[in-house]
Amino acid sequence: MERVSRVLVSHEEIEQAVNRLGEQITKDYNGQEIVVVGILKGAVVFLSDLIRKIDCPVILDFMQVSSYYNSTVSSGNVRIRKDLDYDISGKDVLIVEDIIDSGVTMQCLLRELGTRNPKSIKVCAAFDKPSRRKVDFQADYVGIEVPDEFIIGYGLDYSGKYRNLPDVCVLELDGGDK
Ligand code: IMP
Ligand code: MG
Repeated sequence: MERVSRVLVSHEEIEQAVNRLGEQITKDYNGQEIVVVGILKGAVVFLSDLIRKIDCPVILDFMQVSSYYNSTVSSGNVRIRKDLDYDISGKDVLIVEDIIDSGVTMQCLLRELGTRNPKSIKVCAAFDKPSRRKVDFQADYVGIEVPDEFIIGYGLDYSGKYRNLPDVCVLELDGGDK
């Protein structure tokens, strides 16, 4: 069984990071329309807070993907389970993700969306675990950098659970199956 062990990032700290990201994004896009793409399901809580801090016209869309890493070729593939509703060609796209871990999901997704001729694509992640990278990837906007722990809450899940916790907590897993 798993156990919620301690708060790693409090909801106050998350709120501060979201405010900072919203200000930065508002400044960088300078009134231009942004197609904000939330990655289901983990990004939903973060996205709903973030878009209300962005003072630009926002078009909201969602994708759901699952990624597979192939260690023999040091890259990955992404399977699209739900695709975008909008055509992003000529648009400024901001992908909103819960956490960057190995980097495989975002690397593959950027490759895929890049073929659809957007004007620009950037990535905003609530959390980043840089020590876990398997591929070279850096998000354009990061809320909070976290250590190599399995975390849940604020949208992040373990087996579909805990997404509704307001704080981000460390989950201890018996048998060390991270
Ligand atoms: P990546 O392709 O390894 O970067 O995987 C990113 C995805 O893995 C995220 O969208 C999360 O769904 C999941 N993930 C990575 N680390 C954690 C964690 O600590 N808690 C919950 N989900 C995680
Ligand atoms: Mg997930």
